[in-house]
Amino acid sequence: MISSGKLTASSFPASDSIIRKLPLPKPRFLSLPNAQNGKWSFNHAVFSQKPIYISSIEKFALPMKTQKRGTECKAYEADRSLPLEINIELPDNQAKFEAAQKLKIGIYFATWWALNVVFNIYNKMVLNAFPYPWLTSTLSLATGSLMMLISWATRIAEAPKTDMEFWKTLLPVAVAHTIGHVAATVSMSKVAVSFTHIIKSGEPAFSVLVSRFLLGEMFPVEVYLSLLPIIGGCALAAATELNFNMTGFMGAMISNLAFVFRNIFSKKGMKGKSVSGMNYYACLSMLSLLILTPFAIAVEGPKMWAVGWEKAISQNGPHFVWWLAAQSVFYHLYNQVSYMSLDQISPLTFSIGNTMKRISVIVTSIIIFHTPIQPINAIGAAIAILGTFLYSQAKQ
Ligand code: 3PG
Repeated sequence: MISSGKLTASSFPASDSIIRKLPLPKPRFLSLPNAQNGKWSFNHAVFSQKPIYISSIEKFALPMKTQKRGTECKAYEADRSLPLEINIELPDNQAKFEAAQKLKIGIYFATWWALNVVFNIYNKMVLNAFPYPWLTSTLSLATGSLMMLISWATRIAEAPKTDMEFWKTLLPVAVAHTIGHVAATVSMSKVAVSFTHIIKSGEPAFSVLVSRFLLGEMFPVEVYLSLLPIIGGCALAAATELNFNMTGFMGAMISNLAFVFRNIFSKKGMKGKSVSGMNYYACLSMLSLLILTPFAIAVEGPKMWAVGWEKAISQNGPHFVWWLAAQSVFYHLYNQVSYMSLDQISPLTFSIGNTMKRISVIVTSIIIFHTPIQPINAIGAAIAILGTFLYSQAKQ
């Protein structure tokens, strides 16, 4: 028996997701009823340009017990009397897309951490031989800017289309990036790499405090509680650090604060903009370079650099030049990859990734530089890092 009831597009509510994925011209939807948990639902899975008739609606009125088993409803196009082919691969494609996206972010994260570890090692080797953090910070930005200008000129990467508004929005980000970068490099010139990164694992605490007191954001009580191990762990690590240095400690703290602002402004600046994460970071490097250069000249200056250079070359030979080039190139690369990640993920996921990155840097640098570390100091670091994980859980 055919045509007991006629269904039209207006008969049932439409499903957004399916409509978006199958943009057919003004489709009509046939929703096949499906009974689950005693409730009727409709899968908007079948499309037809013609009126569609249902062979029977008797089963619509089945008792709840029967409905739970599921009801098959045979539908035919009125003028063909052929079963409709239901061959929808959307869930599969969706799953594939999500898996590819996860893989992509995983590759970004792994690359970001690896590049960062290499940067930190070369950076410390350079700073040990040539303790001029303002110049090395400037050279990192200059190298990145040059690399990107060459990539745009040779069309390896497509140059971004920017306007005055873009650069105005970028300015506060660049100021924060410059301060955070110099402060971290000054810190690493005074203390062990591991110590700088232990203090830098306290960044979530700064993030919450800035969001709470400057942006007026409220957080659940667990988020505030998670700050206790972060702050306590950092304090314990600092108090028991064998080579504690106040400039090194303050540099890492200032860097934390500056990078919280940088990340908040960056994410806002990147939202809805056509400039990709990679190009966004390239523009950021260029603007930061302009801001930093006069300060580097004022604080250190060519005379100090010349003396330091002679000494570094005489002690380390031409290797020193390679270390300097490597720290500059790797600085740009790890930041570029981290911005490519930030383009895809939330600032929260970004900060979790950043914390995991610090664990790799702390462990590797302790091994490579034979950093003396007391058990109580290691416990402080572990508590701080555990706190950042609790923080991420609480924030989720
Ligand atoms: C820098 O020089 O900018 C810092 O080493 C970066 O620190 P990060 O680990 O927070 O990126």
